[in-house]
Amino acid sequence: MLNIVIFGAPGSGKGTQSELLIRKYRLKHVSTGDLLRAEIKSGSELGKVAHQYISRGHLVPDEIVIEMLEDLIKRHSSEKGFIFDGFPRTLSQGKSLNDKLEKNGQTISTVLSLDVDDEELIDRLVKRGQLSGRSDDNEQVIKSRLSVYHEQTEPLKDFYAKQNKLVSIPGKGTVEEVFKSIEEVIDHLKNGQNG
Ligand code: AP5
Repeated sequence: MLNIVIFGAPGSGKGTQSELLIRKYRLKHVSTGDLLRAEIKSGSELGKVAHQYISRGHLVPDEIVIEMLEDLIKRHSSEKGFIFDGFPRTLSQGKSLNDKLEKNGQTISTVLSLDVDDEELIDRLVKRGQLSGRSDDNEQVIKSRLSVYHEQTEPLKDFYAKQNKLVSIPGKGTVEEVFKSIEEVIDHLKNGQNG
């Protein structure tokens, strides 16, 4: 079983690399951003609450996101493993994820941290915003998302480094170059599991 956390700032390539990982390793993709955007689109009560936070570049409260995830882990626990994309984003989410996996006899295999500088991140997201229509892809909200990342999410690196799970991946090359670095880490892990 492989449980991968794909970690990084907004625009670092988590979604892009997750797509490639799913294709190659057949894991269950869990993107809390996608789940929340689906709730917003459906017009649900949860979606209405989430929209208030997402449109300002703030994090949706932990209890909402954690509950959403708990359900998903239970429903898909028989699969080959998960890719957690955009979760966890706070220390409390990180601790909760460890607990939930442990309850199902599982653990996080690795945390892949995509490292990209802020200037490149802003550039990527502003460009995407011109095409995507994502309400949080405008310069003002992008800057807020980045400062939230540095204040509330980046400290998780330390949390995972202490558990020897953190692997830094240079995220600034081409999509293929970044994926090659990721593949090396995963294949090494898989060989360790088989050997
Ligand atoms: P979420 O949907 O998770 O968005 P994000 O973290 O801001 O990340 P993005 O999707 O913008 O970027 P990404 O890292 O996936 O990069 P991508 O591959 O798309 O979260 C949105 C919001 O939901 C949050 O702000 C928060 O409000 C809420 N939320 C979500 N999870 C939450 C949680 N756990 N707790 C609380 N709140 C939560 O790539 C970005 C762009 O760059 C694309 O255009 C892509 O084509 C391009 N690109 C990718 N790789 C490269 C490359 N190597 N070179 C050049 N361009 C590249």
